[in-house]
Amino acid sequence: MEIVILDSAEEVGVLAARKIASVLKAATPGVLGVATGSSPLTIYAALATMRQRGEIDLSRTRAFALDEYVGIAESHPESYASVIRREVVEPLAMNPDLVRVPDGRAADIEAACRDYEEAIAAVGGVDIQLLGIGANGHIGFNEPTSSFASRTRIKTLAPRTRADNARFFDNADDVPTHCLTQGLGTILDARHLVLVAQGDSKAEAIRQSVEGPVSSMWPGSALQMHQNATVIIDEGAASRLELADYYRYTYANKPIWQRY
Ligand code: F6R
Repeated sequence: MEIVILDSAEEVGVLAARKIASVLKAATPGVLGVATGSSPLTIYAALATMRQRGEIDLSRTRAFALDEYVGIAESHPESYASVIRREVVEPLAMNPDLVRVPDGRAADIEAACRDYEEAIAAVGGVDIQLLGIGANGHIGFNEPTSSFASRTRIKTLAPRTRADNARFFDNADDVPTHCLTQGLGTILDARHLVLVAQGDSKAEAIRQSVEGPVSSMWPGSALQMHQNATVIIDEGAASRLELADYYRYTYANKPIWQRY
C-alpha cells in the first residue's frame, strides 16, 4: 500500500486526479469507479480543470458508482444517481449512458444487485476505484463486520453513518436506513484503488485501516490485501499514523518513473 500525506484537501484532490488520469490513459477509455460524499469533491474539481485544459477526455470512459440509497426517488437531489450526475457526469463531460449507479428503487433488489455485478464484469472490471472512508472505517457502505468476500447487496446504514450524512438532508430522520453497495469483494476486484481522506475525524479510521490488523471491524483494512492500493490523505487524517515520517520519506524518494 502506498500512503501519501499532503498539506491540504486541494493537494489531495490534485494528486488523486493525476493518479486516476494516468491509469485511465493507459486503459483508454477505461472504467472508473466513482464515490459520492465530501471526500472526492476536490478530485472531481481537479479532473474538471484537467479536462478544461485538454489534458483528459472522459467522454468514452465508463463509470460505476459504489452505492445508492434505498427508499428515496432517483429525482431526489441527494440520491446518488442525482449526486453523480451533478458532481461527476456534468462537470467532467462524461456520457451519462456509460455511467451506472445501483438501482435502489428496484422492485427486485437482489436481481438489481446481480445485474450490477454482471454489468461491471461485462465491461472487464473497474480499472481504478475511487474511495472515501467513513469515520467508522466503512468503504462503499460496507459497515463494520461486512464480509471481505461480499458482493453488491443491500445493507443497513450504521447509526453513525446516518448521523454523518444528515448534513445532506433537511432533517436527520430523512436519511435513508438502507442502501445498495458494492461489496468489499467487488471493490477488491478493481485493478487500482485510490482512497482519499481529509480531516481529524477520519484519523482513527485511517490508522486502523492502514496500520491496524486486517479486520472486518474496520472495513478499510481490506485495502491491505490489494496489490495496487494508494491512500492519499491530509495531515489531519494522517495525525494518528505511527509511521507517518516513513510515508513522507518514501514519497519524497519515490523514483521519478513511478510518479504520476
Ligand atoms: C460514498 C461512499 C462512502 C463515503 C464515506 C465518506 O459513495 O461510498 O463510503 O466515501 O461515507 O463520506 P465523506 O466523504 O462525505 O466523509
